[in-house]
Amino acid sequence: MHYFQYKDEQLHAEEVSIKDIVERVGTPAYIYSHATLERHFKAMDDAFAGTPHTICYSVKANSSLGVLKTFINLGGGVDIVSGGELYRALAAGVDPKKVVYSGVGKRDDEIAYALDSGILLFNVESEQELDRIDMVAGHLGKKAGIALRVNPDVDPETHPYITTGLKKAKFGINIERALEQYARAKTLQNLEIIGVDCHIGSQLTKVSPFVDTIKKLKRLVAGVREMGIDLKYLDLGGGLGIQYNDEVPPLPSEYGKAILEETKDLGLHLLFEPGRNLVGNAGILVAKCLFTKKGDEKDFIIIDAGMNDLARPALYGSFHGVQPVVKDQEGTVVADIVGPICESGDFLVKEREVPNFKQGDFVAFMSAGAYGFTMSSNYNSRPRVPEIMVKGDRYEVIREREKVEDLIKGEHLPSFL
Ligand code: LLP
Repeated sequence: MHYFQYKDEQLHAEEVSIKDIVERVGTPAYIYSHATLERHFKAMDDAFAGTPHTICYSVKANSSLGVLKTFINLGGGVDIVSGGELYRALAAGVDPKKVVYSGVGKRDDEIAYALDSGILLFNVESEQELDRIDMVAGHLGKKAGIALRVNPDVDPETHPYITTGLKKAKFGINIERALEQYARAKTLQNLEIIGVDCHIGSQLTKVSPFVDTIKKLKRLVAGVREMGIDLKYLDLGGGLGIQYNDEVPPLPSEYGKAILEETKDLGLHLLFEPGRNLVGNAGILVAKCLFTKKGDEKDFIIIDAGMNDLARPALYGSFHGVQPVVKDQEGTVVADIVGPICESGDFLVKEREVPNFKQGDFVAFMSAGAYGFTMSSNYNSRPRVPEIMVKGDRYEVIREREKVEDLIKGEHLPSFL
């Protein structure tokens, strides 16, 4: 059951007509389905039923308070990568004991904020970071829970920009040197070593890289335990892919089964950091067709959303399905769907057969719930678009459209001008 469906030729999110929403709030706009968010969270959570685990939703995928709160209400924790994400998660009411903090570049003030907030653990990505966390914790008179993020050198077979677990990546500590670092960590007074962590990449469409990773991690876990360290957590990161086009990623249940098979005898509490899998197909971006233009070599559909609103196609050549909000187009056309930004890379669709959109039509870009709004920017001084959440037959604006005044908020003309 898909919660974005046509009724009487009109696209709906759950019970609400998308046309009704955008006629009221305008375009472009991100629209999320609450039922889809819930279903995806539960599918992931149920995949590990009966085993101690926490789903620490990866805030970077979609950090709207309404989205965070939806998962928190279902018992979720969060995976954060900045003080800003921690602030958001706390504002949404997360239990600090369900917060894991990843990322290669944590600043002292961010480390201190996380320690003061009482988070569960830091996923430490380098030797120097270990010392730094120890030092900051010492100043605050606290003990920092830590796991080492190890780089298992496993190929997730995904886009190079979102591959993180290969030796050449900036992420994590090389698995071959991890034991030395655990030994070092043991000598640091203000650390409590409680876990092992990894995250190998994003949009994985197979379970085998996860399984290969766990096999490597198990050897490490055994080695760490031999040092007398009492491990409690195994954080397996995020990365489970979704269907954008014709990919067939494993279901959360299949992913869960494969992982449980490998980890069942470890006696560790499992942590997961899914982002895309929970939110990707729970959101769409809706834009309006401003103009159509016949070029000499190709046709263009010019819309009011651009690469600043949805960066993925420009950045990674990503595919997002395109659907009319009202199905009243005559036939199809092979065209580029482009935005108003002054860059040739500003396209959402490249040379694809799409409905023959006309001026004024609303165009929905599917699977835009993950890394959509969060990667949007004000480039070309374009206010960021609103976010709307639908639940059943209701919908609410969960983030307002920015106003032009917001664009200069915090700016000052220097007194010497
Ligand atoms: N944990 C860590 C440490 C991560 O770096 C990431 C994603 C996740 C969890 C969540 O991964 P997911 O479950 O969403 O695959 N902007 C790119 C994706 C970048 C992913 C970065 N890290 C895109 O739009 O495809």
